[in-house]
Order: sequence, then C-alpha cells, then structure tokens
Amino acid sequence: MDAEELSSLWRERLGSWAIPERILKQAPADPWGHNPTRFATRTDRALADPDRGPTMTRLAEALPEGGSLLDVGAGTGASSLPLRDRVGELFAVDSSAAMLDELVLKADKLGVSVTRVKGRWPDAATDVPVCDVAIAAHVIYNVPDAREFLAALDAHTRRRVVLELTHRHPMSWLEPLWEHFHGVSRPVRPIAEDVVALAAAMGYGVRVEEREAPLERFSTLEELAASACHRICLDPARAEEVGNTAMELGMWPVPRDRWVTIWWDHRE
Ligand SMILES: C[S@@+](CC[C@H](N)C(=O)[O-])C[C@H]1O[C@@H](n2cnc3c(N)ncnc32)[C@H](O)[C@@H]1O
Repeated sequence: MDAEELSSLWRERLGSWAIPERILKQAPADPWGHNPTRFATRTDRALADPDRGPTMTRLAEALPEGGSLLDVGAGTGASSLPLRDRVGELFAVDSSAAMLDELVLKADKLGVSVTRVKGRWPDAATDVPVCDVAIAAHVIYNVPDAREFLAALDAHTRRRVVLELTHRHPMSWLEPLWEHFHGVSRPVRPIAEDVVALAAAMGYGVRVEEREAPLERFSTLEELAASACHRICLDPARAEEVGNTAMELGMWPVPRDRWVTIWWDHRE
C-alpha cells in the first residue's frame, strides 16, 4: 500500500475508536482529556530517575550540545526536559495551555530556555522554526492526519525525528471494563506497526526499537478505578465498584505496556 492508502487506513481505524454517542452524552467529563497533574508527576519521575531507554538515547545522540529540540504534544515535558543539560532551546508545542503552563514552570526551575507554542500540530508548525531534533511522545494515537503530522515533523527537523508510542492504542487496557459496563467492544487497530508502515511508505529511513514500558500505568487500584471511570464515561462516585470489577476481571495489577521508539534521520 502507498502512503495515501496507509494514511486513510490509519484515519479510518482511529475513527473506529469513537465512543458511541449514547455513552458519550452521559460522560461527566471529556473521556479523552489528559490530566496535567498526572503528567506533571510523570515528568517529575522522569527528571528524578532518567529513562535510559531508546527514546532518550536516540534523542541525545542526535542533539548537538546547546541544540534546539522540538517537542510536539509536549505535555509537561517528560520526554524533553530530561535532556536539560544538552538543550539550548526547547520548542514545546501542545494543544493544552494547562500542560504548557506546567512545562514552563518546570523548565524555568531547571534553567531550560523554552518557547511555548499553543496549538495543534501540524497547524501550529508555522509558528516553529526548523530544529535540530524533534520528539513526539505518546501523541500520535490522538492524530487522525498522521501523514501530515509526520511530514511536518520531518520538515521542521534538521537531524532526527523520534516518536514514542505504546504498541497498541493506549486505551486498550480498558476493553474488559467497556464490555462489562457498556456491552461494547473496542477495536484492536491501529497499532505501532501501522505508524512504521506509514513512515516507511513516506520514504523515511525508519528504525524501530521496542521494550517494556519503564513505568507502571497505575500505582494503586484506586488510581486505576478513578482513571477508568473517567475513560469509560462513568460517574466518579462509581470508582469503588469499578475497582472491584477490575479485580474480579483479573485486570489488577495492569500488565506493563510495550513501548515503541520509531526514529529516522532527516535527509535533504
Ligand atoms: C499523552 S500526552 C503525552 C505528553 C508527553 N509527550 C509525554 O510523553 O508525557 C499527549 C499530549 O499531546 C497533546 N496533543 C494531542 N494531540 C496534539 C496535536 N495534534 N498537537 C499538539 N498537541 C497535541 C495533548 O494535549 C497532551 O498534552
């Protein structure tokens, strides 16, 4: 399949994750929303105990001393601030102002010079210069236009583009709870291989490294239950019931995800 076909397949498969309207309309909060506090904790952990996995390794080896780093879907900076000793200027792009606020606070404390760009990639690409290296970690499952997303990353990078993502959709772990509470089943595709195939069809010299996630998804059953209520559109008051159900369904402890690092060097 060529890039155009793979790109429309990605869009179609991602679209199949849409939550049925009858469930969505009862949701107390946006089930797709991200919580900046949770991501701030993730960034603090990444700063305290830097991950020596392939994503950080591939970024660090391509980033020149004092170079520019573009972080797309930066969140609170978990995948860019750990490179604080090498980064000359960080361009942090995110559609969420609350995430960027947290990131800037942390960057200021660490003495990292940061330019914040609030907006969706690739639309926000016009506000960003070409940088030495780009990272987009745990973002692409939010992006229907994966082809445009990747092309804009490559176009804004002098040396290397690095992506990190879970092997399967990050909401896949909720499948038994969707079945139990709503009687609906969730799709399997798209998966990381679909991004690899698309990037390769676009002509990039793609390399792939896979490993077990360095972090547990949740530290406690209560944390799992609160997150599950939010993601499957249930009232937070049902957290105890959701936690008990997760136990009965054998979902606790949650097995670690597989994380995939996809990278290529920019060619002129
Ligand atoms: C799961 S978080 C990952 C954050 C961070 N990269 C990390 O690894 O911790 C995804 C982030 O991407 C942002 N986001 C999603 N789609 C985006 C897009 N098309 N352009 C810019 N930001 C996006 C969300 O607001 C959120 O902050």
